[in-house]
Amino acid sequence: LIPLLNKALKDSGRTIQDVDAIAYTQGPGLAGALLVGSAFANALSLATQKPLVGVHHLEGHLLSPLLADGSSRPPEFPFVALLVSGGHTQLMKVCGIGQYELLGETLDDAAGEAFDKTAKLLGLDYPGGAAISKLAEQGRVRIFDLPKPMLHSGDLDFSFSGLKTAVLNQVKKFEAQSVTDPNVVAQFHADLARSFVDAIVAVLVSKSEKALKQTGCKHLVLAGGVGANLQLRNALNEKAQANKFEVHYPPLELCTDNGVMIAFAGALRMLNKNNGSTTSGAFDIKPRWDLQ
Ligand code: KG4
Ligand code: ZN
Repeated sequence: LIPLLNKALKDSGRTIQDVDAIAYTQGPGLAGALLVGSAFANALSLATQKPLVGVHHLEGHLLSPLLADGSSRPPEFPFVALLVSGGHTQLMKVCGIGQYELLGETLDDAAGEAFDKTAKLLGLDYPGGAAISKLAEQGRVRIFDLPKPMLHSGDLDFSFSGLKTAVLNQVKKFEAQSVTDPNVVAQFHADLARSFVDAIVAVLVSKSEKALKQTGCKHLVLAGGVGANLQLRNALNEKAQANKFEVHYPPLELCTDNGVMIAFAGALRMLNKNNGSTTSGAFDIKPRWDLQ
């Protein structure tokens, strides 16, 4: 972290004196990783006498579209956020900084987890979300009839473990045929990737639209690693045009985990003077932390 901080300061032509406050991810997540960041941030704060802000990881994702780079307009409150990462799949109503209402979430696997597990079944490296998305571009539509879990459940919850199992069943069926032609194998993988992406995108888009209708919001924010998925972005853009709502994305490189979104959420908390979290020492981390 020390060489990284030095490089960031050097690249931006700043010194540590130019820094107003230090933000760090206080939770949720694996305690070991959180402790590393927390200990570093606390030490830096102590050494420099700069204020410290503990940030909720998902709040970082959620507010990252406010960092719009000019290619898209920042969203206005209130908005609906679809948070899709490796650990979370949630629909939230966001009325302001720190005002978050959970509308629905996954009952089992997260969307990113479904991408990663399916990628593994197709022989791709972890994390495989981006690779599946690319592979799906070579796939043909509707070759496999995969389930779209909870599409008509009437609520805003999700479930993705059945989809992963359906992919596994198709892989087993194909393997039983002992196909050796590499072109046929490659086409099978691409077709299955395509059906998987189409199924998961259909569910995410449909539930997002339902959330907009239910809340009366006209702005949708897409955040989290899966928000980098181009098929999802294209499908949401199409729906937005047809149904008169606006979709907001963070710049593509700020979709997956990054330090900018944590610094930004920390800055907003400082400006709003409602630092939601009190930090009382290097070990004050929250591995489990409800955003609400
Ligand atoms: O938000 P994130 O970087 O980390 C967590 O907080 O979990 O999300 C990581 C997840 C991984 O599951 C990864 O496979 C997925 O985001 N992901 C994608 C894409 N890029 C990253 N999933 C689908 N399509 C992508 N282009
Ligand atoms: Zn994340």
